[in-house]
Amino acid sequence: MSIPFQFFNQLFDEYQKLNPSVNKIHQLFKNVGEEIINDHIAFRTLNFPEINIDKIAQPFIENGYKEKGNYRFKEKKLTAKHYEIPNNPSMPKIFISQLMTYELSETAQRLISSLYSDIQSNLNKASNLLFEGNFWGTPDYHIYERLLEDSEYAAWFYVFGFRANHFTVNVNYLENFDSLEAVNEFLKENDFKLNTSGGEIKGTPQQYLEQSSTLADIIPVRFSDKAHHIPACYYEFARRYPQSNGELFNGFITSSADKIFESTDYREPQ
Ligand code: NI
Repeated sequence: MSIPFQFFNQLFDEYQKLNPSVNKIHQLFKNVGEEIINDHIAFRTLNFPEINIDKIAQPFIENGYKEKGNYRFKEKKLTAKHYEIPNNPSMPKIFISQLMTYELSETAQRLISSLYSDIQSNLNKASNLLFEGNFWGTPDYHIYERLLEDSEYAAWFYVFGFRANHFTVNVNYLENFDSLEAVNEFLKENDFKLNTSGGEIKGTPQQYLEQSSTLADIIPVRFSDKAHHIPACYYEFARRYPQSNGELFNGFITSSADKIFESTDYREPQ
């Protein structure tokens, strides 16, 4: 059994509708004759039992995905797992993280708990959580700002909710780019801004994984008072290396992913 392609297409569609850069980047690669294979797709959630990582993973598990890696991001108060379809490297891996809400300040915990109780009774009506976006309705800018003080991740999730946080181009499959440096140069020549936290390239060939990402698009979002410009989603690029057993490394490097999360950090619109 395999997950219907339609499912990934629909996720990608929602992702590109929200983020103008995504389509532009896709077009750039297409124009030089590349066909894009996704390395992984990432989702964010909260640690509550009805929406936690295991719940988000369910549709993937039902379609042949297996849990492979377990990660902890202490400073960002997150845990994460990754999933893959065994022996099928061209299928995207799934990376799901969750905020450990009990590690937040009491105020942030109270705000998040009240949002969660608002949606709890509607959760069983959601046919697929991954397409629900922001369940709790039009966000309030004061709540967004207050959550930002505690956790960029919490604030992002409050506004954007359940959706693909990013797709990742698998650089190994690109024909005209033999390094991640070359991909980054290509993006910069075309005026895309890269996340430079921890350097443009996170990870090394010795860690078997190099990653880079664009900074999230700043988009207008309707809040209860008016539209505000805030960061939405980003695009990631990953190059994997063979391990000593000759097999490509399929996991994630915590110290690198930690910096990649910062691609959605709040910044002033320019
Ligand atoms: Ni990623």
